[in-house]
Amino acid sequence: MTILVTGRGGMLASDLVVELEARGMPVISTGRRELDLSAPDDIAAAVTSIRPSIIINTAADTDVDGCESREAAALTVNGTAVGALANVAGDIGAHFVTLSTDYVFDGKKSGPYTEADRPNPASAYGRTKLRGEELAGESSTIVRTAWLAGTHGPNVVRTVLRLLAGDSSLRFVDDQRGSPTFARDLAVVVADLALERIPGVFHVTNAGAVTWFEFVQEIARQTGADLNRIEPIASADLDPPRPAPRPANSVLDNAAWRSKGGAAMRPFEAALSELLAELG
Ligand SMILES: NC(=O)c1ccc[n+]([C@@H]2O[C@H](COP(=O)([O-])OP(=O)(O)OC[C@H]3O[C@@H](n4cnc5c(N)ncnc54)[C@H](OP(=O)(O)O)[C@@H]3O)[C@@H](O)[C@H]2O)c1
Repeated sequence: MTILVTGRGGMLASDLVVELEARGMPVISTGRRELDLSAPDDIAAAVTSIRPSIIINTAADTDVDGCESREAAALTVNGTAVGALANVAGDIGAHFVTLSTDYVFDGKKSGPYTEADRPNPASAYGRTKLRGEELAGESSTIVRTAWLAGTHGPNVVRTVLRLLAGDSSLRFVDDQRGSPTFARDLAVVVADLALERIPGVFHVTNAGAVTWFEFVQEIARQTGADLNRIEPIASADLDPPRPAPRPANSVLDNAAWRSKGGAAMRPFEAALSELLAELG
């Protein structure tokens, strides 16, 4: 029962492989060299040669701003290739799981988004990821997550720690609200959904919601740094401006996961404290 995890070396894939192997599962993790999502026509042959029983696609073009200027190329990786993975999964009888994003929503809702809410992405990244969801089809598992941080790869927690180690002020936006989510916590739920082969769309985030400014304040609080160094700004005041629009609200209600009896995700503050201890 081999599990294929794409996106080797990525933030989620790194924790997911550890989680699956800890459960005794044989895992093959692929990078661009073995499975290049920018070449969807080659996907069927590459996957068939591995013959996995479950495919978990964490690979994606995750450069949200970069996607704005090369949407067609991002669509190949985040959309067409996801369809190719779902098709070959169907052909070989494998269950297909793919990761998606809170950025499929436009952020105009006042409360948390449930899986029943209609996506309406405002960015090229969001549009390409939504196409991936559509092509994954109803028999697949689609996991939408948000604001990831973990021990592998660059992320906002590392950036903030680096900035706090200096002496300049930190300016973070106070008009985008979401749920910081820890790759290791997400990996546990992705592994559960994959191994149980549960189809459908699932929102999976840590509990709690903050703006980026409030999240950075929490990092400073937990590390004993001076909160006065952190300044709230509006997205419109970012200099240089960021090419991709972000949703003002992308808090995800994990309703579908709860309805399947899944354990509630812990508050992001608890996961953050564990991550900070690990990052030293
Ligand atoms: N990070 C977040 O805040 C966030 C939020 C919501 C949803 N998500 C979704 O969650 C999933 C995991 O995110 P992550 O942060 O773990 O991603 P990540 O750290 O950026 O890793 C992405 C992986 O995809 C690989 N990749 C990119 N283009 C590829 C291609 N053409 N062929 C094969 N592999 C390719 C990358 O390889 P290289 O290293 O060679 O580039 C990398 O290993 C993604 O689907 C993402 O869209 C992430």
